[in-house]
Amino acid sequence: MAVEAIKNISAIGAGAMGSGTALCFAMAGYNVHLYDLTDASIESGIEKIKAALDAFHQHNLIQKSDVPSILGRIKTTTSLEEAASNADFIIESIVEVLAVKQKVFASLDKVCPQHTIFATNTSGLSPTKIAEAIARKDKFVVTHFWNPPHLIPLVEVVPGEHTSQETVDTAYQLMQKIGKKPVSLKRESLGFVGNRLQLALLREAFHIVEEGIASPEDVDAITRYSLGRRLSETGPFESADLGGLDIFKNIFGYLGADLGNATSTPSLLEKTVEAGKLGAKTGEGLYPWPAEKLAALRKQREDVLFEHLQKDTTQKQEPSHKKSA
Ligand SMILES: NC(=O)c1ccc[n+]([C@@H]2O[C@H](COP(=O)([O-])OP(=O)(O)OC[C@H]3O[C@@H](n4cnc5c(N)ncnc54)[C@H](O)[C@@H]3O)[C@@H](O)[C@H]2O)c1
Repeated sequence: MAVEAIKNISAIGAGAMGSGTALCFAMAGYNVHLYDLTDASIESGIEKIKAALDAFHQHNLIQKSDVPSILGRIKTTTSLEEAASNADFIIESIVEVLAVKQKVFASLDKVCPQHTIFATNTSGLSPTKIAEAIARKDKFVVTHFWNPPHLIPLVEVVPGEHTSQETVDTAYQLMQKIGKKPVSLKRESLGFVGNRLQLALLREAFHIVEEGIASPEDVDAITRYSLGRRLSETGPFESADLGGLDIFKNIFGYLGADLGNATSTPSLLEKTVEAGKLGAKTGEGLYPWPAEKLAALRKQREDVLFEHLQKDTTQKQEPSHKKSA
């Protein structure tokens, strides 16, 4: 199906990701059906969407007068049939459980038109495995948004073993049309690419703390004031080229063997979770999270993400070496 033919989107799941993806499509002018199991989940999703629209307005990215028409493009339902019946493109963001995703896609496969493309927002489940439950395996693809989906530009587009190139191309172009920066992977891999890189950094961060080299506060400060500053402009390979590959070759030579290479979960992470310290949502993780400190950090991060979005919308051209081949 050509991207131009896509008019109606169904967002399955109205949680953190589902409501955010629904907003991305509605802001780009698409009609969206937002589905969840209960009215309460839908209401909570719509509240998140309204709060996000308010933030877009505060940061001058939309006018107040745009809000009613954006909200007007989002219809809500607790009927999967209703959500599916006229969908050209489904974006699923329900719980990260293979059997549940398979069950929902099997139901959708029965009620959606033949042309409907199925996309999952799974964080890392195999698209080939999820698609085992459906007949239209060629029309099944991962579109992995990052949280918060309305502020982070990346969407990883990941084919399963049976996904057609046409489906990948259409999903990729659709993500471009809603203003995202999609990247297509050559093949599926556990955790795709973004989560592999994130986990590699986190594994070394835990290793450093467990080895008594530095505290979590210092690891965060070192990252924030160095790598973090650079990484939004130059990825690891661009950074290595700018630094000089001979230098990085030398560093690998003496440092490679000393890096953490555990394949099991870091024991500090295991112990902290066992103690019920799950992070911000329980008030404590690796740090204590009093409500005021948490609200301030969330606001600070949101403001910076909005600054990047503002820059993205005014940036005319990417450097020529960044244009996709
Ligand atoms: N939160 C993140 O940072 C993040 C980032 C990228 C991808 N994801 C993925 O997106 C998906 C959703 O994550 P989330 O954080 O929005 O979760 P969430 O718990 O906030 O929302 C999930 C929603 O799905 C609904 N749902 C609808 N139909 C369902 C069904 N049949 N069974 C169970 N639940 C059903 C739930 O009621 C709930 O509202 C997951 O696959 C997750 O791995 C999450």
